[in-house]
Parts: sequence; structure tokens; C-alpha cells
Amino acid sequence: MNKLGTGSDSITQRPQSLPSPAPGIAIWQCDLELSENQIAMLAQCLSAAERQRATRFGMPLLRARYVIGRARLRWVLGRALSIEPQAVMIETGRRGRPFVRGHEVDFNVSHTQAIALIGIVNHGRIGVDIESGNRRVNVEGVGRRFMTLRERGELATLADDDRRRALLRLWTCKEALSKATGDALSAPFRHLEVAVAPAPRLVAGPPPYVPADWQLFDVALNGDYLATVAWWRTETPDPG
Ligand SMILES: CC(C)(COP(=O)(O)OP(=O)(O)OC[C@H]1O[C@@H](n2cnc3c(N)ncnc32)[C@H](O)[C@@H]1OP(=O)(O)O)[C@@H](O)C(=O)NCCC(=O)NCCS
Repeated sequence: MNKLGTGSDSITQRPQSLPSPAPGIAIWQCDLELSENQIAMLAQCLSAAERQRATRFGMPLLRARYVIGRARLRWVLGRALSIEPQAVMIETGRRGRPFVRGHEVDFNVSHTQAIALIGIVNHGRIGVDIESGNRRVNVEGVGRRFMTLRERGELATLADDDRRRALLRLWTCKEALSKATGDALSAPFRHLEVAVAPAPRLVAGPPPYVPADWQLFDVALNGDYLATVAWWRTETPDPG
């Protein structure tokens, strides 16, 4: 057992394990607020590159959240891989998508405010996205840029705040899909047709967004958050 988190650690509240939406998927929620001393302890399990990156955050609050988030991620991955958190080799692939080299396990992270969501899958690829339910968005602009004609038509039938929340819900689905592939903002969002009720699902999209290969899951969290996990059941995941 070690003081950085694989055992009965006292310096952190561990990430909270959330109900798994499907066999093979694990989801964790992390609070990104700790004291300076606790953050300094957690920073010990970061790599040199991560510590270097932490120094580049201008705002202490953002630096603290980054360090806590990375340490939590290492704890979760170390647990999944049965290795120490500091031994996890996190690399960055295409368009900045992080991955662990040499393991079947795939993961993805999303943060909003002081919350991070981590998804891990033992087969295929995973993407996660969390948004604060009170996030202000330019509904018209985001709709034009990222939504299909049908989605925009459905949004147009809703009253103002319902429309904003429905757009955020659609957005978490599309962002999660785009983070599983690593496409991120280069994904063909206006060609990804998503349905959110009764449960989220990919309805249509160009390869590799072929509905038969994908599952979407709502994640229920305490507080006003919208979150989605996308599982890409690809047979040939390349790193990153
Ligand atoms: C970078 C991007 C992948 C996600 O950014 P984001 O929504 O600001 O941030 P999230 O917290 O959801 O995800 C960030 C994490 O995704 C991971 N990530 C980075 N690049 C990635 C990629 N290409 N693919 C998958 N995951 C990626 C990283 O782990 C990153 O966390 P880290 O920097 O602490 O390592 C990109 O899609 C983006 O900038 N999206 C924002 C667009 C937006 O907000 N539009 C308005 C809609 S309402």
C-alpha cells in the first residue's frame, strides 16, 4: 500500500466509483478541490512532463485542478492495471488524445468547474463529456455549427431554457463520440445524428461513426451536470 493512493490513503478522498453503465466500463467522479498540502502530496505521483505542464497554468486554481485531476487519473488507471499510479505511462496521441501505451485498457477524461469524470473501458475506445447544467451557450450558433437539420428542428420547438439544456445534452453526446475517436473538434458533428430519448444513441453518421459500433450512456451525477459516455466497440483501436 502506498501513500499516493493505491492503498488505504489518508491524504485524499478517493475518486468516487459511479454505477457502471455496461460490463467492461468503469466510471469515476473526482472532486478537484483539496488543500495546498494535499495537492503537493498528490503532485509526487505526476510525471516530470505533467509537473512541467502544471507550472504553465497561470491561475493557481486551474493548476491545482490539473494536478488533482492527473493524480486521480493515475490512481484510477493504476488500480485498473494493477500498477502504482506513478508507473502509469500516459502518452498523447493524434490530436492530443491521451492513452496508455501497451494496454488494452482505454480511458478518457472530462472536467467542468471542480468536477472531473473519468471513463475506462477494457475493450474498444471510450469518450466522456461533462457539462455544467447552467452553462450559458449561444444556442443558435452552436446549433448551426454542430447540429443536424433534424436536431435543430427539434430544438426549435422548445422554450428557451429547455432548448439550451437540450442542446447541451446533444452536445455531451457528440463531444463524447468525438473524444472516443480522438477527432475532437474535427469530428463531423453536423453529420452525427443523435437521439437523446428515451436513452441516448447514435442514429446515423459517416464512418467510423457507424451506429452498430457505438453505445451512448447518460451518467447520473449529484448536482446539476449533464454527462455522457460513448463506447466505440472497435476491434482495431490504434493508440491515441
Ligand atoms: C479538447 C477537446 C477534446 C475537449 O475539450 P473540453 O470540452 O474543453 O474539455 P474536457 O474537459 O471535456 O476534455 C479535456 C480532456 O480531454 C482529453 N483530450 C484532449 N484531447 C483529446 C482528443 N483529441 N480526443 C479525446 N480526448 C482528448 C484530455 O484528457 C483533456 O484533459 P487534460 O487536458 O486535463 O489532459 C475539444 O473537443 C474541445 O475543445 N471541445 C470544446 C468545444 C466546446 O466547448 N464547444 C461548445 C459546445 S456547447
